Amino acid sequence: MNADLVVVGSGLFGLTVAERAANELDLNVAIIDRRSHIGGNAYTENEEQTGIEVHRYGAHLFHTSNERVWDYVNRFTDFTDYVHRVYTRHQDEVFPMPINLGTINQFFRAAYSPAEARALIQEQAGELAGTDPQNLNDKGIQLIGRPLYEAFIKHYTGKQWQTDPKDLPASIINRLPVRYTYDNRYFNDKYEGLPVDGYTAWLERMADHPKIDVRLDTDFFDEGHDYSRSAVSGQVPVVYTGPVDRYFDYAEGDLSWRTIDLEQEVLPVEDFQGAPVMNYPDADVPFTRILEFRHFYPQRNYTKDATVIMREFSRFAEKGDEPYYPVNTSVDREKLLKYRDLARGEDNVLFGGRLGTYKYLDMHMAIGAALSMVDNKLKPHFTGGASIE
Ligand code: FAD
Ligand code: NA
Repeated sequence: MNADLVVVGSGLFGLTVAERAANELDLNVAIIDRRSHIGGNAYTENEEQTGIEVHRYGAHLFHTSNERVWDYVNRFTDFTDYVHRVYTRHQDEVFPMPINLGTINQFFRAAYSPAEARALIQEQAGELAGTDPQNLNDKGIQLIGRPLYEAFIKHYTGKQWQTDPKDLPASIINRLPVRYTYDNRYFNDKYEGLPVDGYTAWLERMADHPKIDVRLDTDFFDEGHDYSRSAVSGQVPVVYTGPVDRYFDYAEGDLSWRTIDLEQEVLPVEDFQGAPVMNYPDADVPFTRILEFRHFYPQRNYTKDATVIMREFSRFAEKGDEPYYPVNTSVDREKLLKYRDLARGEDNVLFGGRLGTYKYLDMHMAIGAALSMVDNKLKPHFTGGASIE
């Protein structure tokens, strides 16, 4: 064993920890991943036939307002000036998203001013004013009124959860943003862009260090390699970014997740939909949205003979599926508290990342959390002898 630290999982959380441990703390780091590639869910690859960069685990848009994270990621890659915008196809008509003045005026065939639109939505939301919504359907109507809710949110959410919104808890949505301007920029963050040379080049640069040993196709729970759980246990500190319930052999039960089935297709046209993301909010279409990857990099000289699209189908995950979004029921939250206690009691092991903490984290949040873990746990341990718990 010549590693000072073992990192389980090469997603952005694990990569950030490994990079800082090698460069800032001067440690020998082993980073293992059960997958055959680096980068976790941010991984991309060039589709064989077209060379178009495809996000294997769904569209990843980088955005942040965190100065420290922005400085940090810029050490490994430049970012393009890409600005994310989403459209939605309802009853064979295409509207801009998130719901804004353009959406409203198109939908109601009107030319409302911001104040007129606001008054209209308020009136429509008034249908359930003063009531305490008991399910997502009532909550949605109360937030933006029935017409917009039923057109753009109801079935889309129902498809995401494979559940009628009348049977979903109201707590799934706190707010449904409606903008009373024509601004349809999707994110509000200060910084936004896509890595100029693609995600995988960025992620590989993070791990490119003589003191970082990357082992792919290597599962922490499999025996027979240097960094298995039994080989490292009690020998060397571990940062674990796999599923927390798996670590404890599901002792408190399985945490529930949603997954997405992604169906990729190469089409013999230059441009299929004219935009990177088209939502499908109607009940009669089984998928939730279609990605078209060429639009993430309009500056690239991609082929004009073909394009790559990906349809997304959302459903509850079963064992063996990729866990994507925590379902986070009250039962899940009770289990999570128990797993957190177990995790605290596990000496020499720190749990991080979206799987290790059962939390949806955007990339910038995963990176920020990893930098904090290095500051608050690893640095005190390796430079001051503090114990890791
Ligand atoms: P992951 O990327 O999941 O990495 C965890 C790694 O651990 C995986 O590679 C896994 O193989 C490995 N692992 C698990 N168990 C073991 C084991 N036993 N042994 C060895 N290795 C193991 N963020 C954004 O900022 N913008 C977006 O647009 C965006 N879109 C997203 C879309 C989808 C569908 C999803 C699911 C996420 C999206 N994210 C987005 C979030 C982004 O993917 C996460 O921030 C990022 O994945 C978090 O990194 P992580 O390291 O915590 O987890
Ligand atoms: Na611990």
